[in-house]
Amino acid sequence: MAYDSNKRPDDMVRITTPELANAFIDEQIKAIKEQVGDGKVLLALSGGVDSSVCAALLIKAIGDQLVCVHVNHGLLRKGEPEQVIQVFRNELGANLIYVDAVDRFLDKLAGVSDPEEKRHIIGEEFIDVFAEEASKLEGIGFLGQGTIYPDILESDAGIKAHHNVGGLPEDLQFELVEPVKLLYKDEVRVVGTALGLPDSMVNRQPFPGPGLGVRCPGAITRDRLEAVRESDAILREEFAKAGLEGKVWQYFTVVPEFKSTGITDGKRTFAWPCIIRAINTIDVVEVTVEHLEPELIDRLAARITSEVEGINRVLYDFTPKPPATVEYE
Ligand code: XMP
Repeated sequence: MAYDSNKRPDDMVRITTPELANAFIDEQIKAIKEQVGDGKVLLALSGGVDSSVCAALLIKAIGDQLVCVHVNHGLLRKGEPEQVIQVFRNELGANLIYVDAVDRFLDKLAGVSDPEEKRHIIGEEFIDVFAEEASKLEGIGFLGQGTIYPDILESDAGIKAHHNVGGLPEDLQFELVEPVKLLYKDEVRVVGTALGLPDSMVNRQPFPGPGLGVRCPGAITRDRLEAVRESDAILREEFAKAGLEGKVWQYFTVVPEFKSTGITDGKRTFAWPCIIRAINTIDVVEVTVEHLEPELIDRLAARITSEVEGINRVLYDFTPKPPATVEYE
């Protein structure tokens, strides 16, 4: 069945098992083939759950009629661009264009400290890079999007503008292909697993669109951004070792601009602190703080201060939401 409307049918069964996922996948493959025919589909593949599941479904349906564009804006977590290339190009055989736009984004962001302006630049630049790639391609008739049902509900309620690449220039308006648009997040994950995507991709924690940019408060510098990326990688590794992966809803590090004194090998240092945030929530409206085991706290402090350049202090954020938000910008 092709879903023409943006309304989930009342009798649509919640996809909770591999069998239900496979039935959905078969149904969508048929619907995608019908919609696209021998046309070409373009998709911005961030490596997040929704765009990844959408891409995997489209690859299964139309193979190399799908062109995926992965824009590396320099604000992704450690190992993410590599994982996108490994999974989609090497394992699934996707037609994947990898765009290294790191310098372009970081140059534009240099010296910009206002959080809204930073978000705006990241969003605009993303559309520009994507549109440039699209204009180099011929015969694209469709735009694939990993829109999911909460996006539609939030957009209808006026909470969030719909959606990812919504701001493409006039001459690049394509017909949309949105195969997972009636699914809830948990269903998207079940479908992703049934499509063979790795667990680390399907069950990963939420990650904001502006990426590590909002975890490097104020004007982003390359050295402080690297400190965020490296400390985040250590945090994820230690949480996985402690069995907290998939149990704690979201966890990350923030490296603020100020410096404090410290001492390493008998020498005075003047370096940034690294703030750890680990939270649990159901609806992200209210958030509680995860209480870490003392051994884990000690290990994190030891590893982050010794392995991450520019950090001499590790702090823990004990604040629920409200009054704090999850992210720092
Ligand atoms: P806040 O900071 O608003 O975060 O309490 C709530 C949740 O939303 C995520 N978040 C974002 N996600 N684009 C996104 O896709 C964004 O600009 C953005 N800002 C915050 C945040 O990581 C948390 O899970």
